[in-house]
Amino acid sequence: MSLSLSADQPEHPPEADDGAWLECIECGETFAPLEDIRYTCDECDGLLEVRYTDLPSLDEFEGRGVWRYADALPLDSGVTTQEGATPLYEVPRLEDDIGVEALRIKHEGMNPTGSFKDRGMTVGVAVAKELGVDRLACASTGNTSAALAAYGSRGGMETLVLLPAGKVAAGKIAQASLHGARILEVDGNFDSCLDIVQELAARGEAYLLNSLNPFRLEGQKTIGLEILEAFRDDYGAFPDRIVLPVGNAGNTSALYKAFRELVQVGDLPLEEVPKLTGVQAEGAAPMVEAIENDADEVRRWDDVETRATAIRIGNPVNAPKALPGIRETDGTAVAVSDEEITDAQRDLAEEGIGVEPASAASIAGLRKLRADGTVSDDERVACLTTGHLLKDPDAAAAAGSDPQPVPNDTEGVLERLHE
Ligand code: F0G
Repeated sequence: MSLSLSADQPEHPPEADDGAWLECIECGETFAPLEDIRYTCDECDGLLEVRYTDLPSLDEFEGRGVWRYADALPLDSGVTTQEGATPLYEVPRLEDDIGVEALRIKHEGMNPTGSFKDRGMTVGVAVAKELGVDRLACASTGNTSAALAAYGSRGGMETLVLLPAGKVAAGKIAQASLHGARILEVDGNFDSCLDIVQELAARGEAYLLNSLNPFRLEGQKTIGLEILEAFRDDYGAFPDRIVLPVGNAGNTSALYKAFRELVQVGDLPLEEVPKLTGVQAEGAAPMVEAIENDADEVRRWDDVETRATAIRIGNPVNAPKALPGIRETDGTAVAVSDEEITDAQRDLAEEGIGVEPASAASIAGLRKLRADGTVSDDERVACLTTGHLLKDPDAAAAAGSDPQPVPNDTEGVLERLHE
């Protein structure tokens, strides 16, 4: 396994094409990046990563959004709706309350379709176009399906999404529907949807755009690049820790890859690599279990449940990339209850930041780790909030206050106000 933080330069294999190649993280087998369709290694079925002959330095990037980082991506341009360049909010009251030196919220809900998935899709859908496929597919807890539907339509391709019946928030289904995806509701959870869609992809029915697809994670890498650049500008130092919600562990893997590439070019000293800290809901916490037990592999949870439906996932497919990321950066993983998630959603709302439940898990996790002393008071922390409040209007309404009926006259309204 080659996933460690090191300044060593990799050898360039003959398969490198246009400066990039695919490499298996398990056996090291290499493949030309855009010749054939493959999602995992032909030899051992291990996960693949995109590698580059020349990695850019942080000072070389120009422009705004995901494509600012084109030199660190497998293509020069994508199918775009101007994703990325999301806000990194200050939250002074929450920072004070949790008790850290600095706390910033990287709100990925401010992307075009309201989640970080857009960063992956702008790259993944462009790769699909390069490969000449005409039907795109994903399994989804909702956000991936919304992003795939939007970017697929924009790219002029057919989209197919498999969703766990009854477990996807209303806003996300509405998006997939309006953007023209064919939506199939499976009588099973997300993990079984992913099993099925992988089968469909293997049989050539569609091109798979779940985070198993290594090109999608290249786009999601840019979250890490934006956070690191902003902290360097604002504090003269990179963040000590990045806390994020974990489902399939795609973002955890993508952030770790961003760090490894910056270490390789000499922009990020090893001792300054941010600690990757993953947060899961108690009812769906296989990654936390693996970290706590120091296990090499994640055990699949067949029964998962949480109000944070976006991360209601029992088989995090990117675990082989993400576990080394958490361990090598001296990070950790923690599980939080649904009540803690809702409280954190309210905390963020009080600062004017509207997020869906899964997103609030990062703040809930940080609070817990600060309370037990894992996070110290001198840390500068970035928390990732992954999806917008309007994605899950039912959860927001349940966490907020109820509207009050009043009569149709000023006196009646005043009476109610002064009650
Ligand atoms: N937060 C939100 C809002 C998500 O939608 C997801 C994943 C995650 C966190 C977890 O991210 O997989 O990179 O660890 N949603 C996928 C979907 C599974 O289908 O929309 P991860």
